[in-house]
Amino acid sequence: MESYLTAEISAAALRHNLKLLRRRLAPGVKLCVAAKANAYGHGLQLLLDILAEHVDALGVATPEEAVSLRHHGLRKPILMFFSACAYGEGAELHDALAQLIANDVWLTLVSHPEVRLVAEAARRVDATAQVHVKVDTGMGRSGVPAELAPALIEAVRAEPRLRLVGFYTHFAIAEAADKAHTLEQLARFRRAIADCRLPIADWASPKPENRNPEPGDSRVEAAEAAERRESGLEIGNRKSEIGNQRPPLLLHAANSAALIDLPQTHLGMVRPGIAAYGYQPSDEMLVKLPLQPILRLTGRLMQVRDAPAGSRCGYGLRYTFTRPSRIGLVPVGYADGYLRCLTNRSVMRVRGQLAPTRGTISMDQTILDLTDVPSAAVGDEVEIISPNPADPHSVEGLARLAGTIPYEVTCRLGDRVRRKLVNSFGGRAGEEEQVAPGG
Ligand SMILES: Cc1ncc(COP(=O)(O)O)c(C=O)c1O
Repeated sequence: MESYLTAEISAAALRHNLKLLRRRLAPGVKLCVAAKANAYGHGLQLLLDILAEHVDALGVATPEEAVSLRHHGLRKPILMFFSACAYGEGAELHDALAQLIANDVWLTLVSHPEVRLVAEAARRVDATAQVHVKVDTGMGRSGVPAELAPALIEAVRAEPRLRLVGFYTHFAIAEAADKAHTLEQLARFRRAIADCRLPIADWASPKPENRNPEPGDSRVEAAEAAERRESGLEIGNRKSEIGNQRPPLLLHAANSAALIDLPQTHLGMVRPGIAAYGYQPSDEMLVKLPLQPILRLTGRLMQVRDAPAGSRCGYGLRYTFTRPSRIGLVPVGYADGYLRCLTNRSVMRVRGQLAPTRGTISMDQTILDLTDVPSAAVGDEVEIISPNPADPHSVEGLARLAGTIPYEVTCRLGDRVRRKLVNSFGGRAGEEEQVAPGG
């Protein structure tokens, strides 16, 4: 049966974003796209072939996400962004680690007990675990504190069953216009790399000729120059023992915001998530990359009727009609990820016109005011989320209205939403590439 809620996911937009991000990287810099949480809610299975074609690695949060990517045939590296050891205990944890190691998943380590646990699990499956050490340089969340990183690296190196593949950090506020904290994190990361005596290749940020200039790039160059002055490190001056070649050890730090605004953070690999799916990391970005949102959410009007002036609607009767009105019911609610805090604030598009939602968003339904769209009828398509970032009902627009971030809007899309990979939004039947039920 046709699902009443359809998320069209644009293959073309995803390819466009991935190419755009890749073009900002110097040759040789690896692209690891964050695909956790079902590709930020868009449907990982649907996107997997395209991602696999364009990226060097995928990033996930949980052991299940990592193993399921292997089961779906991904042969590229998979990095678990968080410590696998936090996802269980005892025999259950040992089995999970063994499974991850057997599936060649890159594990993140942040402490000594984890080094021992992972080495033990690797011995049990007679394999070598490939690990990245994550260092906290000012995010204050996960990662070994920078001053303790050298001892942890020593411990990893002392374990024959562990192979150190990467060393990384995560930025707390790269999406803000003020880059001071991010540049401080980068400086701390560099010091940690030096303290750990890790091989560093050239620190060079992508040469301007390697990047396609975007609006705002001159502000980025000014930020880079200031950072060079402050850190005392002329980018490009530091050379590794292995000359200009990139070292086998992957150094990485950049999320979407840093990838776009701060080329000096690219190092050996970047880890964008939100930008790959077409959303600006924030309204404060210095560079406005022409990203294309990959999502359009539609439903169908399931009922249309009159609402007299003075009548009220929805749970809590939180809207009163001030004129004789026509209302329609849209089968989307907070169970589908349409946030309840959008009550009396959002709009949807019907027959090319924007119509305001009225009353409390409920679990399964939303009331739409169709008074100014008099021709609207049962069965009409309703555009609930627009792929045009300028629309008030775009992911970014709804995030602004709800006081949240685009990440939350897409991650919350529920299982009742049918994800459909399309070549172009609103395309004709037959143009659809693939369909996945719910997640
Ligand atoms: C460790 C790590 N790297 C990269 C990302 C991607 O971040 P963004 O979606 O802001 O690009 C995340 C996302 O939370 C993360 O946890």
